[in-house]
Amino acid sequence: MLLDDPFNKKQIPVAQNGSFFTGHLNEFQKSPLRFMRTLTSRYGDIVRFRLGPFQKVILLSDPELIKEVLVTKQKSFIKSRDVQSLKALIGEGLLTSEKEMHMQQRRLIQPAFKKTHINGYAQDMIDITEEYMNKWSAGMETEITEDMLDITLGIITKTMFSMDFKEGHELLGDSVEKGMKLAIKRMRSILPMPLWLPTKTNREFKQVAKALDELLFNIIGNRRQEDGLKEDLLGILMEARDEEHGTGMTDEQLRDELMTIFLAGHETTANALSWTLYLLSQHPEVEEKLHNEIDAVLGTESLKPEHFQRLPYTQNVIWESLRLYPPAYVIGRQVDEDVEIGGYLFEKGETVLMSQYVIHRQADYFENPDDFTPERFENNFMRTLPSYAYFPFGGGPRVCIGNHFAFMEMVLVLACITHRYRLRLTPNHVTIKPQPLITLRPKPGLRMILEER
Ligand code: HEM
Repeated sequence: MLLDDPFNKKQIPVAQNGSFFTGHLNEFQKSPLRFMRTLTSRYGDIVRFRLGPFQKVILLSDPELIKEVLVTKQKSFIKSRDVQSLKALIGEGLLTSEKEMHMQQRRLIQPAFKKTHINGYAQDMIDITEEYMNKWSAGMETEITEDMLDITLGIITKTMFSMDFKEGHELLGDSVEKGMKLAIKRMRSILPMPLWLPTKTNREFKQVAKALDELLFNIIGNRRQEDGLKEDLLGILMEARDEEHGTGMTDEQLRDELMTIFLAGHETTANALSWTLYLLSQHPEVEEKLHNEIDAVLGTESLKPEHFQRLPYTQNVIWESLRLYPPAYVIGRQVDEDVEIGGYLFEKGETVLMSQYVIHRQADYFENPDDFTPERFENNFMRTLPSYAYFPFGGGPRVCIGNHFAFMEMVLVLACITHRYRLRLTPNHVTIKPQPLITLRPKPGLRMILEER
């Protein structure tokens, strides 16, 4: 079946066998990863389907077309509805704002994520990890997915507010976790209930949002009273001034951006680290090479920020892990005005999905795509790929602002852990599967044993 096309453009293939009312909603909800991979192998670079009676969706699996959506013609798109539903929790921060407002905020915030600032956070990243590992001992069994969430939360609170681990965790840990869980619930429901409806989830959501608001406004208010400038993220964001008008951010804007950075930057990194530790446990030959590199660079010393540059294999282990299990496994956009992409007509209101999980596993770009082979990233492999065949951090004007931060954090945390320990799944573990929520998690979690090296 082909759709009518008033502009006489190329026809987008339409996925067959959807239900009359719900389209392909059931298959999508049951297993979005399998569904998107199957559609791509059946229909190729582009296919249209329906989720529910009205929501038309286009799945793109061609790097050229993805580049048009994310970069060349990005002005014709806005964020998809699931991201918009996050506004109730994180307001109009970078992740959810659009157009002029987004560009303005991005200009203000970008300097805080410059490499020079990020390098200054490396020692904090190491200290938080070392401190956390004091809880660990040889032979201990632990839930690694939880540990990684704790470590990345510790790192974000330290680098953002200069709070130590215990203080940050006690003050923010609980509310952030609850907020994330409820946000996931809202995003997954096909029609999020308007917040004024007194449903149980809505009531909980409002309570958590209020608690987080109070906490963050308190932190911001206290900081405004302090003398002198702190070089943490909050300090830099408070000092940021719009070049044109010289204005800074209001407390509300600061609150939205802080919440956004928590939400966008904490679970993604934790999941990437968990997947990496899982992959290493399954590939002893890669693990051994990683250990050899870390031992050769560190010897008996403990990790220092300057070691980061000298760990190319460790870096490639992270790149390869982000390829196989990209925490952001799909990017969504909504068509904001009719637009032509690669000779096809995309209609206003349609949703466009572009899945890193699908594209990162295409044999056209990656030899033996399901294998875990960090060596493939040697010799500037990324430069040989078409742009948007590998895009764990997205691209264009909305590329992840925390990409350097996250990459450095993942390499340093991984090096700290593997310098001391070899991790193995407990003998009675069940098969680990990717669970696509807001980010891609290992399901049902990773229960692992810490073997001293
Ligand atoms: C492995 C870790 C991470 C991954 C895979 C990741 C991935 C992404 C992706 C794919 C996007 C683009 C989404 C889109 O275009 O719709 C994004 C946006 C964003 N990320 Fe990350 N991210 C990570 C870590 C971080 C960290 C550590 C921070 C902050 C400290 C952060 C802050 C943000 C923000 C604020 C945005 C919105 C940018 C904008 O729209 O201008 N992320 N991230």
